[in-house]
Amino acid sequence: MSQIKSDLENISPLANAVTKWCCDFQQQLPQMPVAVLGNPQPEKAELQQQGLGAERAFAQFIQQIAPGLSGSAGPRYLGFVTGGVTPAAMLADWIVAAIDQNVMVPGDSISSAVEQQTIEWLLELFSLPAELTGTLTSGATSANILGLLCARQYCGDQQGMDIARDGIGSAKIEVFSACPHASSKKAMAFTGMGRDSIIDVPTLAGSEAMDTVALENLLAASKSPGKIVIASAGTVTGTNFDDLQQIAQLCRQYQAWLHVDAAFGLFSRLITERLPLTAGIEHADSITCDGHKWLNVPYDCGIFFTKHPEILQQACSVSAPYLDVSINLPAYMDRGIENSRRFRAMPVWLTLQAYGRDGYKEIVANNCNQATALARWIEQSNDYQLLTPCSLNVVVFSPKNQQRSVKELLNTLNQSGQVYLTPGMWDGQQAIRAAFSNWRTSIEDVEIVCELLSQKVAG
Ligand SMILES: Cc1ncc(COP(=O)(O)O)c(C=O)c1O
Repeated sequence: MSQIKSDLENISPLANAVTKWCCDFQQQLPQMPVAVLGNPQPEKAELQQQGLGAERAFAQFIQQIAPGLSGSAGPRYLGFVTGGVTPAAMLADWIVAAIDQNVMVPGDSISSAVEQQTIEWLLELFSLPAELTGTLTSGATSANILGLLCARQYCGDQQGMDIARDGIGSAKIEVFSACPHASSKKAMAFTGMGRDSIIDVPTLAGSEAMDTVALENLLAASKSPGKIVIASAGTVTGTNFDDLQQIAQLCRQYQAWLHVDAAFGLFSRLITERLPLTAGIEHADSITCDGHKWLNVPYDCGIFFTKHPEILQQACSVSAPYLDVSINLPAYMDRGIENSRRFRAMPVWLTLQAYGRDGYKEIVANNCNQATALARWIEQSNDYQLLTPCSLNVVVFSPKNQQRSVKELLNTLNQSGQVYLTPGMWDGQQAIRAAFSNWRTSIEDVEIVCELLSQKVAG
């Protein structure tokens, strides 16, 4: 205990040392190796008996862990769909740790009200109806889980059942989707509906977007009283958008719940010319979005919106005498997976305060321009081919001459430490994906990547 007390007495110099290290890390990110391949490990050691104290423990971090950190928050980490962290969001996340609020119930802190305001700002940012209810989650996967929890609750209700209370039992539910993200399949597993039970809706030719005529036929043929459609607003490879207007209309007609996974695609709404991509999303019953992608707040932060707060509440409500303190205000523990919750609204609130709508419009527009620039370069290259048009922020391509496998080429590119790219599959063909969603990325970074692609294709 004396060690902890003495750490608290020395918190300022300790914090200054850590702050300096973090600021240096942030400033050096563009020069750092983009990824550290090969699964680096800390030294094998047993748990400390006495404890080193924070200063010496921090020295161990510098020695053992810092060298193994990737520059994934930097400008040329183009794998998966990865955001960086804005300066304001980073500082806010430090504040989150320092103030250590539990955003579970309102009544003892301003934190729940801040989450509420943050949700309202996000709705404004995305030009979504103010009536939607929202909650911050640990990521898009948890938001998809919430979407399916609500959807199955709705389907149960249609069959006179309260699934959250009584279990899924004999409820009949069919789930339709064309190109669900892997996390929606995981959400199917978690919600008891089965990872492999999604009914495949065909896609349009040359696209990952849903064929809505096929959806209509499937919905019309379905005998199931409970129906759920999982639509995509930005598929992870082709960045294709389902026709949400049409799908929403079909869902209304067939009383199906419409969940839209817009983990990164929702950000297209910041660009006026791209608003048609998500037209109709305002009719969705629930929507997934991610904060730690294009909003560039630190992990972990996802966003869930729904038109049906009462269904979310039924699906997630929790009660125990010791929790009954919420002074008749909605409690976030009744609107999500966790009871105790991190103050993840704080980085979102601060970054939105700091950069506003215009700041985010600029980030999204810049990233889209960078993706377009890379796609153009690939189209003109003798060595690479663009596998599908770049419609937002993801470029999908492959080497023309496939003597070396795509996997080998990816390894060579990633080993350079100059870029990090991840694989994909397009039309049955191995592909490379480059996803742009970091505020730091510049057109000069695209030039570096193009130069590297030219050099490494030869071997
Ligand atoms: C469309 C889509 N949905 C869901 C996810 C899962 O997001 P997370 O890793 O934040 O849980 C992703 C991640 O890439 C995604 O692109």
